Amino acid sequence: MHVDYRLTLRRLTDALLQPDAPPEQWRQTSEQLFNLLAAAAQLEPDMPAHRADIFLSSGKALAPVWAAMCIKDFYRTRQFILGLKAAIETLSATMPGTRLHILYAGTGPFAPLALPLTILFTPETIQFTLLEINPDSVNMLKQTWASFFADSYIREILCTDATTYKASQPVHIVVSETMQRALQEEPQVAITANLVPQIAPGGILIPEKISISAGLYNFQNTLKDQPEKQDATQQTPVMDLSMDQYALEYPEIIVDIPEEVENGYTQFCLFTEIRVFGHIVLQTGDSGLTQPKILLTAGNNGKFHARKMRFQYVSGRNPGFRTSIDLA
Ligand SMILES: C[S@@+](CC[C@H](N)C(=O)[O-])C[C@H]1O[C@@H](n2cnc3c(N)ncnc32)[C@H](O)[C@@H]1O
Repeated sequence: MHVDYRLTLRRLTDALLQPDAPPEQWRQTSEQLFNLLAAAAQLEPDMPAHRADIFLSSGKALAPVWAAMCIKDFYRTRQFILGLKAAIETLSATMPGTRLHILYAGTGPFAPLALPLTILFTPETIQFTLLEINPDSVNMLKQTWASFFADSYIREILCTDATTYKASQPVHIVVSETMQRALQEEPQVAITANLVPQIAPGGILIPEKISISAGLYNFQNTLKDQPEKQDATQQTPVMDLSMDQYALEYPEIIVDIPEEVENGYTQFCLFTEIRVFGHIVLQTGDSGLTQPKILLTAGNNGKFHARKMRFQYVSGRNPGFRTSIDLA
């Protein structure tokens, strides 16, 4: 039974990472991966404790069921695994002979961005420290990795807060996906701000860069599936989160809103784009994490009722952008 788990994981990892496959293959594979991991973890979707989020001073920590379901955001899952794989390959070349220590913050009950890598690399090459705040997720995580005979890849599994954790050993890669679109609600920024200073020289943060911008969006182009047409236009950068740019508070940014809108660009939105690693990216609309967040809609006269919008990112219990407008 356990051997079957690992064989199935190998097959699903190959299918998920296969280049140029139809997206439907990736979607089906992520469903199968979810079912496999949920069985190994004995995840009980109806158990109230498995559905209760935890509210921290740094934001919301998703309950085991919702954290587990993130895997079904299939293109996100694929790109993060591919990005982490590419980062390991890069450091294996730049730090030959080093056993790479990967710190994964906010694993949920499966640590799905890491487990497939135990198929592709040996425990002599990669070692994980897995951090998760929800105790039920941590128990399922231990059971899942044991079921896949992946214990030899684990340095430590800790039930702890990644916004305050201090590593006792050099960390070569930090990976975390504790975010929603526009970096709202979950503590990605606070976790990044705590962990980036702990990355060893030459190390890598995954995702490498999260960029938030504001601008106009044409949903009709998306609905009609006209890839040749630009959905977004005139985007103004609002915030970047990377190894070079991280903080708990960001300065206020003021963005002008055009007086007239053309060609159906009737929504003023916040956009999220993610560079996972190198050329491996999640662009607007590729994932739940990169869906535009609508802030204003133009009236029937094609005009917005505001001239400017002010943005400020704040950390804390309810992280995200505080906004205000200057009326037209
Ligand atoms: C969006 S889920 C992602 C799950 C999984 N890593 C994935 O990518 O599919 C985020 C996970 O991070 C955990 N988390 C949130 N805040 C945390 C914190 N401060 N320290 C440790 N874990 C945290 C949540 O409990 C949840 O399991």
